[in-house]
Amino acid sequence: MIGRLVVVGLGLIGGSFAKGLRERGVCREVVGVDLDPQSRETAVALGVVDRCEEQLALACQGADVIQLAVPILAMERVLAELAALDLGNAVLTDVGSAKGNVVRAASLAFGGMPARFVPGHPIAGSEQSGVEAANAELFRQHKVILTPQDGTDPQALQLVDQLWRQLGADVEHMQVEHHDQVLAATSHLPHLLAFGLVDSLAKRSENLEIFRYAAGGFRDFTRIAGSDPVMWHDIFLANREAVLQNLDVFRSDLDALRAAVDAGDGHKLLGVFTRARVAREHFSKILARRAYVDAMHTNDLIFLANPGGKVTGKIRVPGDKSISHRSIMLGSIAEGITEVEGFLEGEDALATLQAFRDMGVVIEGPHHGRVTIHGVGLRGLKAPPGPIYVGNSGTSMRLLSGLLAAQPFDVTLTGDASLNKRPMNRVAKPLRAMGAIIETAAEGRPPLTVRAGGRLGGMTYEMPMASAQVKSCLLLAGLYAAGSTTVIEPAPTRDHTERMLRGFGYPVTVEGSSATVESGHTLKGTHIEVPADISSAAFFLVAASIAEGSDLLLEHVGVNPTRTGVIDILRLMGADISLENEREVGGEPVADIRVRSAKLKGINIPEDLVPLAIDEFPVLFVAAACAEGRTVLRGAEELRVKESDRIQVMADGLIELGVSAEPTPDGIIIEGGAMGGGEVHAHGDHRIAMAFSVASLRAGAPIRIHDCANVATSFPNFLALAAQVGMQVGEEDK
Ligand code: S3P
Repeated sequence: MIGRLVVVGLGLIGGSFAKGLRERGVCREVVGVDLDPQSRETAVALGVVDRCEEQLALACQGADVIQLAVPILAMERVLAELAALDLGNAVLTDVGSAKGNVVRAASLAFGGMPARFVPGHPIAGSEQSGVEAANAELFRQHKVILTPQDGTDPQALQLVDQLWRQLGADVEHMQVEHHDQVLAATSHLPHLLAFGLVDSLAKRSENLEIFRYAAGGFRDFTRIAGSDPVMWHDIFLANREAVLQNLDVFRSDLDALRAAVDAGDGHKLLGVFTRARVAREHFSKILARRAYVDAMHTNDLIFLANPGGKVTGKIRVPGDKSISHRSIMLGSIAEGITEVEGFLEGEDALATLQAFRDMGVVIEGPHHGRVTIHGVGLRGLKAPPGPIYVGNSGTSMRLLSGLLAAQPFDVTLTGDASLNKRPMNRVAKPLRAMGAIIETAAEGRPPLTVRAGGRLGGMTYEMPMASAQVKSCLLLAGLYAAGSTTVIEPAPTRDHTERMLRGFGYPVTVEGSSATVESGHTLKGTHIEVPADISSAAFFLVAASIAEGSDLLLEHVGVNPTRTGVIDILRLMGADISLENEREVGGEPVADIRVRSAKLKGINIPEDLVPLAIDEFPVLFVAAACAEGRTVLRGAEELRVKESDRIQVMADGLIELGVSAEPTPDGIIIEGGAMGGGEVHAHGDHRIAMAFSVASLRAGAPIRIHDCANVATSFPNFLALAAQVGMQVGEEDK
């Protein structure tokens, strides 16, 4: 609660600020100041303020907060007037959209920036203007940026911050220069272009006629040319430097586009347009997500899985994640065009796709699983414009670190909170031994920076752990290393990299547990058909096995023997699984898998099957919980460093459901038995979320599963397919 709020300038923004705080009863009195008598009268009549004054000096007597909402170029005059007054302890703030200018003007007027002046900028507005349009909800779910200085009084800052929060705004603090750059790029430049384009077309008289034919594109692009010309003229004068910098960058990009059109360079145009389109989609998602997060005050996506049901029908789960990643990587460094079908449009594989777009590769799609990659050859990648963000995807980070180890540019790879906890020394150390220059954060965690200038030499590396990611990383580095690179694995791991390299015409020698590549060859663009992901199919293999009366056909599933550990383990437990129509598609074995319900029994899981079922353990633990007797897993410490600590997180969830589950350092012991319902946490791990969804088929009560948004990383249509086959799981209604 504050005493007197004075709002100087009763336009849309000042009026909405005054009205919002007045309606919320935050101030004892709200006083408006405006030179225009009509605005003062309307403000009182509409209840925007309690009273109005024409004179600043009168209004500001005894003020606690003074909000300056005058046009940006009028600010200098108002500040000079204020500097001559005794403002007592009043906190000053403003809403100008260029902050450097305001700070300069205030410093000049007051002979230094006053400690109780907190510059601010609400990123909100409307095509309407004037106090008539004042709206108490204008700032709800909009960003307000405050740009405090080194000397700003923390109490004053907190007060202004709180006032905006009272209005429902999402407040951020930022450096003045950063604010002005960001706004120049995202707001001022587009306005300049819209005004400029409309004027350029309109002033040629013949074009007045062509406007009659202008359709949605013109209307959408030029909507903001309908904004207030005086206000915008002020903004461009006030934020001159940042606007000029951004305009110059844009001009050179525009010149490059002009040159491409002139030269008939369709490849260049396609590159710009595909990148722009993805960036626009990404941007729309951020906007949508922001609205969602604000509305819910949380981004915890909860699955509610109702108990019971049986699983029947015929489905095809999405494309294999490992193969999808590799198709983009190898397609990008191949010569010529690679067509991919069945590509997994999940966030992880899309992160890899975006990484290569950022490195200059033209990639069309994905559209219904089809992707066209215009390969640039082994030496054709370009420096990305900034760090490459790979989200939740360990595969992207580890494989890219090898592929990028010998590029002539620096690259930084970063990820989300889960990925940033995962170990990268397993790739950084051997890559360094090959001559790569790699930096990581403490304890070998991401971000991971690969420096230019690493000269790679081939080596023979005996992996300390069975990891397809490490093997693939080193083989990809080996394409650039002098001589030959051999990786020896302690146990068989997925061999998609070796198979796909051959598919691209690159020789790979596999002898027993070793795989070898030699540099000096090239990859030739090819056609890749990605089979359905057995790791996604696994949820339904277990679902149909544990739910009585089930009979399900999973079509076109990849059954590469380095991936079928889940089938072997389930069969050892007594599952009824048969492979039909076995065939080979593009170098990978594929089959339709039929699964019917069966009475499962507990087993000691053979350790040699662990790497062959490494991603399927969360749902296998659910199978174990539904089996008769005890299941023991050993030799699976790797599970502790996946997207979550899958041993601990699954044990916690199973115990919550009433199952006896005992985590051990390298595995788990589960006693099968009855399962209840309850509240479990996926910890952002996609496979945990889906595993507990499957558990509901045998649970006695509903299971609420927290933190499920990452299901989209590997299986975006999981809920739809689960519903299609008869499971009762969906997003909880908020
Ligand atoms: C993968 C290898 C496995 C697996 C991951 C995908 C791959 O990781 O868990 O989901 O595509 O190479 P590790 O190599 O770390 O075991």
